[in-house]
Amino acid sequence: MTAVPTIQGLENPPIRRREVLDWVAEVAELTTPDRVVWCDGSQDEWDRLTKELVEAGTYVQLDPAKKPNSFYAASDPDDVARVEERTFICSVDPADAGVTNNWMDPAEMKATMTELYRGCMRGRTMYVIPFCMGPTTAERPMLGVEISDSAYVVTSMHIMTRMGPEVQRLLDGDTDWVPALHSVGAPLEPGQRDVTWPCNETKYITHFPEERTIWSFGSGYGGNALLGKKCYSLRIASAMARDEGWLAEHMLILKLISPEEKVYYVAAAFPSACGKTNLAMLEPTIPGWKVETLGDDIAWMRFGGDGRLYAVNPEAGFFGVAPGTNWKTNPNAMRTIERGNSLFTNVALTDDKDIWWEGMEGMPDHATSWKGKDWTPSNGDAGEPAAHPNSRYCTPMSQCPILAPEWEDPNGVPISAILFGGRRKTTIPLVNESFDWQHGTFMGATLSSEKTAAAAGAVGQVRRDPMAMIPFIGYNVGDYFQHWIDVGKGADADKLPRIFYVNWFRRGDDGRFLWPGFGENGRVLKWIIQRLEGKAAATETPIGHVPTADQIDLDGVSEPFEDIEASLKVDLDEWKAEIPLIEEWFDSIGDKLPTSMRDELEALKQRLGAA
Ligand code: GTP
Ligand code: MN
Ligand code: MN
Repeated sequence: MTAVPTIQGLENPPIRRREVLDWVAEVAELTTPDRVVWCDGSQDEWDRLTKELVEAGTYVQLDPAKKPNSFYAASDPDDVARVEERTFICSVDPADAGVTNNWMDPAEMKATMTELYRGCMRGRTMYVIPFCMGPTTAERPMLGVEISDSAYVVTSMHIMTRMGPEVQRLLDGDTDWVPALHSVGAPLEPGQRDVTWPCNETKYITHFPEERTIWSFGSGYGGNALLGKKCYSLRIASAMARDEGWLAEHMLILKLISPEEKVYYVAAAFPSACGKTNLAMLEPTIPGWKVETLGDDIAWMRFGGDGRLYAVNPEAGFFGVAPGTNWKTNPNAMRTIERGNSLFTNVALTDDKDIWWEGMEGMPDHATSWKGKDWTPSNGDAGEPAAHPNSRYCTPMSQCPILAPEWEDPNGVPISAILFGGRRKTTIPLVNESFDWQHGTFMGATLSSEKTAAAAGAVGQVRRDPMAMIPFIGYNVGDYFQHWIDVGKGADADKLPRIFYVNWFRRGDDGRFLWPGFGENGRVLKWIIQRLEGKAAATETPIGHVPTADQIDLDGVSEPFEDIEASLKVDLDEWKAEIPLIEEWFDSIGDKLPTSMRDELEALKQRLGAA
């Protein structure tokens, strides 16, 4: 394919690799932007684009005395979250997408989307964004090139991914790369005034797992538009991981240092808005224990030469849920964003050009809500919140005061424990250790949570969210479970991480949380580490090894002891009521459900006396 001479900027690319240049030229020809800009991740580029976005009204610069080099954006009210019903896995065989994904024939999808892309960048700039997920020093750097017509996306990618000359150099080698095409789908007619948040009612977030390719159309929102994140690092990477014997998971990575200065690394999978970012930056309330952060959303785990499972965080920034974040629940996130260089989307803008959201200290007397309306504490109570429940901060990891120094180690860190967890008012105890890897896989496979605002749809409803990956598994969920089992089978059992299931969200009759949570979760981590060290006791119950309240360090906890006991209770009636829900979930998976998962369910029924 020859370059289109009428499109300015296609000449003099910083990259020589033919496949990249051909793809860029082909997309430019299809989408007909006014110009093409090759992005280099530099400070100059950030300064230029943020200035342009301020002029366009997309960004408001925050007061540099409060948040240096930081910007506020409000999205279109209909473009605020991931759109799962518009997300597709277009494998050749529909069975390879499975029952948890939307599927369409790849050729048909391409035909449909090609028509949507035709001329869709008219009047706009097409940015070419070479990026790397994970350290560029990795043995196999995980490269991608995103094409996007959104400068908001470019500036966000500056924070969330590795960009720059080293990535461009690597792209000129022969390492595989993932082409990721994004358009907001809002072409401009000559003279037409742009809106501050262009997007399209029609949205497609599409993955071609066999081709390792991503096509996204119509949305500017993070998870739909920053294609390195959920699309590449989870959906496409999970398909790569299946083929290559590793795991791409929706997990935080943290480092725990005991009073004896022993170091443990823990990975934890909780569904969106269920506490990964909080736990990743935990400030333990118990003396002597320290946490350092390596990642808050995604972990890639591969076996090291020593037979242990090592985790790497593919991201370079935090894209965290804003509401509820405060100096008590997540002081380290507050410190990270105070250092500036951050983007805030759909939070409230205060009159003195700072940001605020529900749950943050220092409620203002007046603010502009994410919808651009006047907001005061009194009309806020009565009506709409100041910040959207899924509003987010986007901030560089390097600014986190408790960042683990080894966060950029391309070999990752050896994981000792994997935690699964969700948001459940009943049934699931505060903490529960699996009997073994296969039982732990069953815990992950049956993970459930009440739906949050992180995805479009009804909030509060319980749904199964296997390994907190239901929106992110890039292939058949039954095959995914089998892959987890195979990973365990291929390993030395005592070198595998031990698997635990936690629930910070169990409630009393009046709706209060039974467990104080947040910094107090360090007490549960302490119990987990002491289990690994063979120092903590637990009771063998039908669902796993569960501690009694006196087996957890509760020194200084102000909640009544009975509440902690209730948070740990294994209620056989609640569990018997859970069984049909698990059966229904497993039945829905069909033939691809591994027999070992059925066996685990039968064994659980036996132990509960429910068989
Ligand atoms: P994504 O970034 O969307 O993948 O989600 P996340 O898992 O990182 O969610 P995050 O840590 O931002 O969770 C935010 C929500 O969980 C807020 O509503 C918090 O108040 C709540 N939360 C986090 N930890 C705890 C806890 O220990 N107890 C209680 N009760 N709530 C918690
Ligand atoms: Mn997430
Ligand atoms: Mn998060």
